[in-house]
Amino acid sequence: MQSFEYQNPTKLIFGQGQLVKLKEEVPTYGKKVLLVYGGGSIKRNGIYDQVIKYLEEIGAYVVELAGVEPNPRLTTVYKGIELCRKENIDFLLAVGGGSVIDCTKAIAVGAKYNGDVWDIITKKVQATDALPLGTVLTLAATGSEMNGGSVITNWETKEKYGWGSPLVMPKFSILDPAHTMTVPKEHTVYGIVDIMSHVFEQYFHHDKNAPVQDRFCESILRTVIETAPKLILDLQNYAYRETIMYCGTMALNGLLSMGIRGDWATHNIEHAVSAVYDIPHGGGLAILFPNWMKYCLDENVDRFKQLSVRVFDIDPNGKSDRQVAEEGIQALRDFWTSLGAPSRLADYDIDESGIELMADKAMANGEFGRFKKLNREDVVGIYRMSL
Ligand code: NZQ
Ligand code: ZN
Repeated sequence: MQSFEYQNPTKLIFGQGQLVKLKEEVPTYGKKVLLVYGGGSIKRNGIYDQVIKYLEEIGAYVVELAGVEPNPRLTTVYKGIELCRKENIDFLLAVGGGSVIDCTKAIAVGAKYNGDVWDIITKKVQATDALPLGTVLTLAATGSEMNGGSVITNWETKEKYGWGSPLVMPKFSILDPAHTMTVPKEHTVYGIVDIMSHVFEQYFHHDKNAPVQDRFCESILRTVIETAPKLILDLQNYAYRETIMYCGTMALNGLLSMGIRGDWATHNIEHAVSAVYDIPHGGGLAILFPNWMKYCLDENVDRFKQLSVRVFDIDPNGKSDRQVAEEGIQALRDFWTSLGAPSRLADYDIDESGIELMADKAMANGEFGRFKKLNREDVVGIYRMSL
C-alpha cells in the first residue's frame, strides 16, 4: 500500500424522513442561507416545499439560486457568488444531484476569493477559504455529497475541469433514498454507470498488497450488478434505491482509495466529450470505459482476469487468461447495454469530425492516467474505438 492519511469530515445523515434534520444542522452555520437547486425537479416532486418549510421553521433567511444546469456552468457559479456577496450569505444548501452540489462547492470558494473563481477551478490558485455548505442529495451517482471534488464547465471555451479542496467537503449530507424515487430511468442508468466507473477508476492501480480495497471494490460492483436490473424495472422500490444510493456514496468518499492511487483517465477523456457536446457524464462513461479497458488489456491481463472472475463470474476453466479478461470486458458492455446505456459516440451524433477537438481538451494538462499513461495518440485511439 501507499502511505496515506484519511479524514472525511462530512456528517452523513442517511434514511427515510431524515430531511427534518435540516432543522438541527443548518442553525449551526448561520441564518442567511443560499438555497441552490437545478431545473425544477425538486419543485415537481415536493422536496422544495419540504426544505422551505423546515428552513422557515428555524427562521432562516433564504435566498435562491435556481436553474443549475446538468454539467454546471461557470456563468451560474458567478451568479451564485454575486448573490452570496450581495446578501451576505452564511451557509450554502445544495438540493439536487452532482451538478447542483458541484456548482455550490465552486460558489463556496468563489465567494471567499477576490479574483476569478476560474483560477481555482483550473488549479492556478488554491482555495484558502470557503463558505460552509450542506447537501440534500436527490440523485445517486457522483459521490459529490461526501467528497471535496467538483466539476465545472466553461461553456464559452468548451472546457470542463475537475478540481477539489477539503474546504468544500459538505458539513453534512442528507440522503433519503425516497428523494431519488422520481429520477427517470435514463438518469438512474447514468448514475449506475457513474458509480461503477468510480469503482473501476480506483480498482485499476499498480499498488501492491491492497486485498481489502480490492474486495471493497468488488463488493460494490457485485451489489450494483445485482440490484440495478431490478431497480430499472421497479423505479419506485425503496430498498433498491437505498442500496444504489449507499453504493454511490461509498464509491467516491475515499473508502476505496486508501493506500492506492487510482487511474482516472477515463473520467478525463469523458469530461472532454461532455465539455464539447454537453452529454450526460454517465452516458459518456458507458461508451468509453469498456474501450479504455480493451486499450489497456495487453499489459494488464491479470488485473482484468481478476475482475472477470470475481465480479462477472466468468468461468476460467479451459480458457487463456486473455480470453477470460476479454469475456469480462464484454460482460460489462453487455450489462450496461441491457440497462439501456449508450455504447457508441454515434448514439449522441458524435462522429470522426469531433475527435481532434475532444483530444485537444482532454490533453489540456498533458499526459494522464496512472494505471496506463495516455498520450494524445492513445486518446484519439480510444475515441476512434468508441465511434
Ligand atoms: O436539474 P433538475 O431539474 O434537478 O434535474 C436533474 C437533471 O436534469 C435530474 N434530477 C436530479 N434529481 C432528480 C432529478 N429528476 C427527478 N427526480 C430527482 N430526484 O437529473 C438530471 C441530472 O442531474 P445531475 O446533477 O446533472 O446528475 P449527476 O448527479 O450525475 O451529476 C453530473 C455532474 O457531476 C459531475 C459530472 O461531470 C457532471 O457534471 N461529476 C462530479 C463528481 C464529483 N463532484 O465528485 C465526480 C463525477 O465523476 C462527475 O464527473
Ligand atoms: Zn464520474
